[in-house]
Amino acid sequence: MDIYQHKDSFGSLNQTQTIQEKVNYLHSTLKLRHPFVERVAIALYEPATDMLTTYVQSSEGPSPLEHYQARLADCQSLLDLLEKNQPRVVNDLDLFAKGSQPHTQSIEQGGYRASYTMPLFAEGVFLGFVFFNSTQAEVFEEHVLRELDMTGHLIAFMLYSEQGKVKTLVATVRSAKEFSHHRDPETGSHLERMAHYSRLIALELAGEFSFSDQYIEHIFLFSPLHDIGKITIPDNILLKPGKLTDDEYDVMRTHSKNGRDIIDSLLQNYGLDGVEYIELLRNIALYHHEAVDGTGYPEHLQQEEIPIEARIVSVADVFDALTSHRPYKPAWSNDEAFKKLREMSGEKLDAQCVQALLKHEQEILRIQRTFYENSFG
Ligand code: C2E
Ligand code: SIN
Ligand code: SIN
Ligand code: FE
Ligand code: FE
Repeated sequence: MDIYQHKDSFGSLNQTQTIQEKVNYLHSTLKLRHPFVERVAIALYEPATDMLTTYVQSSEGPSPLEHYQARLADCQSLLDLLEKNQPRVVNDLDLFAKGSQPHTQSIEQGGYRASYTMPLFAEGVFLGFVFFNSTQAEVFEEHVLRELDMTGHLIAFMLYSEQGKVKTLVATVRSAKEFSHHRDPETGSHLERMAHYSRLIALELAGEFSFSDQYIEHIFLFSPLHDIGKITIPDNILLKPGKLTDDEYDVMRTHSKNGRDIIDSLLQNYGLDGVEYIELLRNIALYHHEAVDGTGYPEHLQQEEIPIEARIVSVADVFDALTSHRPYKPAWSNDEAFKKLREMSGEKLDAQCVQALLKHEQEILRIQRTFYENSFG
């Protein structure tokens, strides 16, 4: 037998780029042997909010549960298997009580009859769940499960490694802020809130703009880094307790271009240019002060010339700046800020993005309650 006859069955993993592509590939290799595995889906867990968010799905037909979010505390069956630290096989979903949780219902409405659910761990860290589904009942037999287990662990390590890169990037940006001599007037909770507002807007616009769950997650991850360029602004301007002069504002406006340059150099120095969706971060840093009427900076882009991720983050940033205390202004009430957003809508801020945020007043309150200012920021 030719010693080169065997082909590495996972060889293409090295050539694929995004987690979505890697999962699609793993799914296709699974189906060669087990064609009844028709859906592989990943939900990520976020400890700060106890939220599970759909992240990546590979399925032949429609993908049920896109843009789905639920509190883990509300998913009793998932909590149970996490507590036991054991995967769960359901070989006939008919056995599930009808009218249970909405996510289980949509899985049934997708025509799925069998499911295998695994909690994902890497290095002891709980990352989320992977779901394998089939439209055929009684297919998840022991020898199949062994292969699904392996696939699940592979997915866990892929996620862990990608998240590691993003965490390194976020930590590096934070260190850069701390090392630079200025004290950042933007607190940690401010950044958390604005990440959540950005995600809220992106979720609301997901249908219209065909955003994937992964895209939305990266908006969430990258939006707090939008002002990294402020580390280049001298303290006497950044921390000025009053209104900026025209000259000072000219200096201040360099922070977006400087932010993009800093990100580019971090990506190079840390070899992180392979991070997924990195273009989002570059656009957010550079364009988050563009205005739809062309009066923004640095490039005076208009309307759709401004990348949508920057239009989204811009609304989140302004709303959060308005409702937060700054050295140059007190915190405004939500109602005052809503009024201001409506005024800026269609002129400075993208009208659809403003609309998307304003639709979710309850959720805004929930975010503000979760990430309130305290003495730790
Ligand atoms: P920031 O504090 O994060 O504010 C982000 C954006 O929110 C501002 O972008 C602006 O569009 C909006 N914003 C914030 N506060 C107000 C407000 O009281 N009224 C209105 N109408 N809009 C507000 P902008 O103007 O490009 O400013 C960029 C950054 O420049 C600000 O980031 C802040 O760090 C600094 N800055 C702006 N104006 C002043 C000022 O008068 N004094 C000082 N010390 N800094 C300022
Ligand atoms: C899913 O498949 O995405 C969730 C359904 C479940 O809880 O098993
Ligand atoms: C983040 O969560 O990515 C940034 C928020 C912070 O700096 O606290
Ligand atoms: Fe900014
Ligand atoms: Fe900002």
